Amino acid sequence: MKIVLAYSGGLDTSVALHWLKRRYDAEIIAFCADIGQLEPLETVRERALRTGASKVYMEPLTTRYLRDFALPALQAHARYENRYLLAAPLSRPLIAERMVEIAHAEGADAVAHGATGKGNDQVRFFTSVTALDPRLRVLAPVIDWELTTRETELAYAREHGIEVSVSKEKPYSIDTNIWGTSIECGELDDIDRPPPCHAWQLTADPKAAPDRAERVTIGFDGGVPVSLDGDKLELTDLVNHLTAIAAGHGVGRVDIVESRVVGFKTRGIYEAPAATVLMAAHEELEAIVLDRETLHHKQGLAQRYAELAYYGYWFSDLRRALDGFVATLQPQVTGEVTVELYKGNCSVVARRSPNSRYSGALATYEAGDTFDHRAGAGFAYVWSLPLRGRQD
Ligand code: ARG
Ligand code: SIN
Repeated sequence: MKIVLAYSGGLDTSVALHWLKRRYDAEIIAFCADIGQLEPLETVRERALRTGASKVYMEPLTTRYLRDFALPALQAHARYENRYLLAAPLSRPLIAERMVEIAHAEGADAVAHGATGKGNDQVRFFTSVTALDPRLRVLAPVIDWELTTRETELAYAREHGIEVSVSKEKPYSIDTNIWGTSIECGELDDIDRPPPCHAWQLTADPKAAPDRAERVTIGFDGGVPVSLDGDKLELTDLVNHLTAIAAGHGVGRVDIVESRVVGFKTRGIYEAPAATVLMAAHEELEAIVLDRETLHHKQGLAQRYAELAYYGYWFSDLRRALDGFVATLQPQVTGEVTVELYKGNCSVVARRSPNSRYSGALATYEAGDTFDHRAGAGFAYVWSLPLRGRQD
């Protein structure tokens, strides 16, 4: 048997690699998607080989992740339950897609991942793989094995000489990529307590952030962020730069209790500094370039889009159709937005676009007003008619 395992180098997937190999007497191909995680990737490759992988696919996928997954979600303004910017869920279909491609190239029988049975990720992996190739088996060793607690997993790792980077003192479940970090478990499960300071991985404590606000101007071309303060940057560099700036001001933290696909609620803390700023800026630009009806309709779809991404329905006709709707509007989304970053906040302070629908002459209450007040009053009369009683 040949299995392609989505491998991160963490505790779960390291133990999974070793366990799968023994359990199925299988050849394990480790696949590590480089989408901007914090761990040095060469260590991950070495660890996979030492843990028993026959081959390691170490692939730079950050550009593809941003272009095909994060960017469409940004343009759709997808926030799950109004706040979560979906860094982890957006990466799952990409990982699944590549696992399927590698499984085909290698003639593998199954793909495997290290998610638990009570999480969203196993649903997302299963759903995505199945949508792409329903004949491939999807193995989830963490669900099948007898290592039900972190302690027993750590003990298994020790017993079999598997090195892991997780320490017992910080038992968080952390998932990171260029778009954001998610932190769960441990002390965070007490939802009635603030997250411990050391749980945050990326952002400065807003209270300790600089006392001076910093302004950043983001340029968009056809809905794609293309510059910071006038400097043209390729998307990956732009996101990395913006992450450093916004994280320094403690921007992009979220602490939520969210509704999992599998029915219960969990607490997660999330850090997505660049995504937070880019979404605020993109939204602002759409607010001035889109007409009212289109803007409002799109706002309604944002929540639906976030649900589909969170639920693991990326490879659905509805998600593709929503992308089509969003894409037709993006050519208008060109211009610049200036935000001010200050102690955890990101506030838009200025915006400009060649496609702006804002007319100073119509809006002003001062000299130069071109709005026809009599037409406005006539409109108010007609507008009120449906709310009046019988008029005969
Ligand atoms: N609850 C989040 C989600 O469903 C985070 C999942 C990321 N995985 C993790 N091991 N932290 O998107
Ligand atoms: C897991 O349970 O494997 C991680 C969290 C999640 O998938 O929601």
